[in-house]
Amino acid sequence: MTTNWADIVADAQQHMAVTNTVNEAPLAADRAIAADAELLSAQLQAMRERLFAPASNKVLRKFSSSEAAKLIGVSDSYLRQLSIAGEGPQPETGTAGRRLYTLEDINALRHLLTEQNAKNRNYLPWRDAQRGEHLQILAVTNFKGGSGKTTTTTHLAQHLALSGLRVLAVDLDPQASMSALFGYQPELDLTGNDTLYGAIRYDEAQRRLRDIIRKTYFDGLDLVPGNLELQEFEHTTPRVLAERRGPATDMFFTRVQAALQSVADDYDVVVIDCPPQLGFLTLSALCAATSVIVTVHPQMLDVASMSQFLFMTSDLLSVVREAGGTLNFDFLRYLITRYEPNDGPQAQIAGFLRAQFGDRVLTAPMVKSTAVSDAGLTKQTLYEVGRENFSRVTYDRAMESLTAVNGEIEALIHSAWNRTGKGAKV
Ligand SMILES: Nc1ncnc2c1ncn2[C@@H]1O[C@H](COP(=O)(O)OP(=O)(O)O)[C@@H](O)[C@H]1O
Ligand SMILES: [Mg+2]
Repeated sequence: MTTNWADIVADAQQHMAVTNTVNEAPLAADRAIAADAELLSAQLQAMRERLFAPASNKVLRKFSSSEAAKLIGVSDSYLRQLSIAGEGPQPETGTAGRRLYTLEDINALRHLLTEQNAKNRNYLPWRDAQRGEHLQILAVTNFKGGSGKTTTTTHLAQHLALSGLRVLAVDLDPQASMSALFGYQPELDLTGNDTLYGAIRYDEAQRRLRDIIRKTYFDGLDLVPGNLELQEFEHTTPRVLAERRGPATDMFFTRVQAALQSVADDYDVVVIDCPPQLGFLTLSALCAATSVIVTVHPQMLDVASMSQFLFMTSDLLSVVREAGGTLNFDFLRYLITRYEPNDGPQAQIAGFLRAQFGDRVLTAPMVKSTAVSDAGLTKQTLYEVGRENFSRVTYDRAMESLTAVNGEIEALIHSAWNRTGKGAKV
């Protein structure tokens, strides 16, 4: 990584030293906090200008021909033949004649190959509503912060988009870490009414979700960004409940579902990054969900807090069910995150979870890797950073684990669509 963190920290320290001497007199709590907020916001802005390209400039790396062939499900030589015959998008030629494909190229090739082989094989894994393949709405949840929700959701959304599915990623966390990974700085890039809250709010300022959705630099992957305004839903819902306005169909738990239904035709999968709390947002997301992934870091405190989470969730969902909400999941799975297989206690807890929940724990854990956390420092995912930034062993080990996790979830989605084998539709 090229980031010089030492410089940035030194800058910030210098800035703090100056501010601290200016602010020697005792401050009222609100002013003190406001002053720090301004300080931090200014520093973050300066850091961002130095480190991160604005969202609109964030671009996805190109893929080598062997990576592209693997993603499409054909041989590298077949891709070369197409390129020599001048069919489909022409790859850029890099050093030593290496052919490089963008994700747009790869998706164009999927379309082309599907047209050419209409009778034999479908290279586009899109769902077929005619065959009852319903929109998959996958909520990633747990009220423990740091359990890997955002990392899981973002990498899953990107994996599914690379597989050729049409994906909508929804950031339901007011802290908006997923939006940040997609290049948005919530308090700067979003002006108001730009999050899912805009589509589920109770007043006349409600907007169509279609108008809130943004494209990302991943072809086929759209985003509903998050920011602090999402928190409004937690404040307005109790008021509306107390006033008992509107018909039962207008209850809080139907709102996320209704908003997502309005764009269902454009997507195969929606993945939702839930906030680390069990509020109305999370409940409404769980009611919309067709499947759930609970992330769990295998440490005793996390497992104890997860047990609380499960009790509370089931209590609250039963209230929703009694009020007429429908709750049917295609699957519910636990994903072990930030796993260190050589750490004895972690391995024991992972074993304990498997003994309790059996197949409901995904076979593959997501291993802890500096490749994931370092990529995170520059607001990138493992799919963006490229192998050359790390030692090969580090990168490959992380990618292998990630591919296994995402592959398992993708297979569950396909089986929810009653497909046999990966992407098989024909
Ligand atoms: N597999 C992993 N290896 C290393 N670091 C990870 C891994 N998964 C998550 N992290 C780091 O742990 C922190 C918390 O993860 P995050 O996904 O933001 O959790 P949550 O959304 O549940 O709060 C982040 O800094 C992230 O970069
Ligand atoms: Mg998060």
